[in-house]
Amino acid sequence: MSLYHHPTNLLKALAEWEQNGLLRKLPEAVPEIDFYSNDYLGFSRLGLLYRKLQEGIIHDQSNKPDALVNDGANSSRMVSGNSHVIEEAEKQIAMFHHAQAALIFNSGYDANLGLLSAVPQKTDLIICDEFANASIQDGIRLSQATHYRFKHNDLEDLETLIHRHQKNFDNVFVVVESVYALDGDTAPLLELADICQDTKNIFLIVDEAHAIGVFGKQGRGLCNALSIEKNCFARVYTFGKAMGSHGAAIVGSEMLRNYLINFSRSFIYTSALPQSSIEAIKHAYQLLIETNQKDLLHQNIAYFYTKGAALKNCIKSQSAIHTMMIGSNEQLDKIGQELVKHKVHARMIKSPHVKSGTERIRFCIHAYNTKAEIDLLVNVLSNFR
Ligand SMILES: Cc1ncc(COP(=O)(O)O)c(C=O)c1O
Repeated sequence: MSLYHHPTNLLKALAEWEQNGLLRKLPEAVPEIDFYSNDYLGFSRLGLLYRKLQEGIIHDQSNKPDALVNDGANSSRMVSGNSHVIEEAEKQIAMFHHAQAALIFNSGYDANLGLLSAVPQKTDLIICDEFANASIQDGIRLSQATHYRFKHNDLEDLETLIHRHQKNFDNVFVVVESVYALDGDTAPLLELADICQDTKNIFLIVDEAHAIGVFGKQGRGLCNALSIEKNCFARVYTFGKAMGSHGAAIVGSEMLRNYLINFSRSFIYTSALPQSSIEAIKHAYQLLIETNQKDLLHQNIAYFYTKGAALKNCIKSQSAIHTMMIGSNEQLDKIGQELVKHKVHARMIKSPHVKSGTERIRFCIHAYNTKAEIDLLVNVLSNFR
């Protein structure tokens, strides 16, 4: 018998995916021409955050020789993992996002899991957009509340579900992303805010993972850009995308923060982020304020749409994420090979991850993409119009 012994269903699942050309492999660590990372502002790729952190450490060390020596959190925030540094960062995050309070989680996945599994109760209803991220779906699965999905960005469908079911539940939680990760389209947040404002027991939860750094004053997000921050019960900001670091924060009321500290299992039963991660988050917020990376990003998005005006089947978006419908896995493979030949990296979204016939190529524009890189992307895509 070999050293490693596996249940046969693991082997079967892998073999099946391989046979259908769906087996995923970890890609090259640093793509040469990057149209697929979520580092929209280049905080990570350009070393902006790294340099800012270095400056911070040098500055700190001149005051406190032991700064960052005890970096590890070593336990949950509920035990010895809490610190003034984290609490101070949370106050700054809350202030930046115009909320009463913020609570840092180890990732966006943990934040959504911890929020949705803890807040809605057995007597509540969750209605989420059908395209909501896996972390939202998993949080809902862990919740005891009843749940339904409404058709993507379809307000009529949402209102039908609310009117049909609201009377049977204590509270209704409507969960959306401000920018959808798949196609980069935005949620109708103004209308959603209206719907949720009309009734006392409807609460709006917005995941701003792909909007922070991209929309709003100094990158505060789409809720800020549309002035609906105060209409949200909770907002989730993740730091692994435009912020170039790691972790996430849920912002809302002081009472929500207190509730999550007491009942959110993905907050309680895990070691806190190390101090270096908290420093990175704080410095990323500083970069949002001090740099003009967001303007460069939007200039590049505008340049892409000028150059690619003739591209058919391109779903237009104002965010950093864009998609072009291709329609079959075979055609996607052909484009993929062509892009790799030119050292261009984008994501191929195949069926069954999306419905057959809606296979698409997804590419992210960044502040650091050069005009020549965008020209190259458009040229390759043009051959497949
Ligand atoms: C909308 C959305 N929310 C949450 C997450 C999870 O964030 P994190 O990568 O910080 O776990 C993602 C990640 O892809 C996402 O797209």
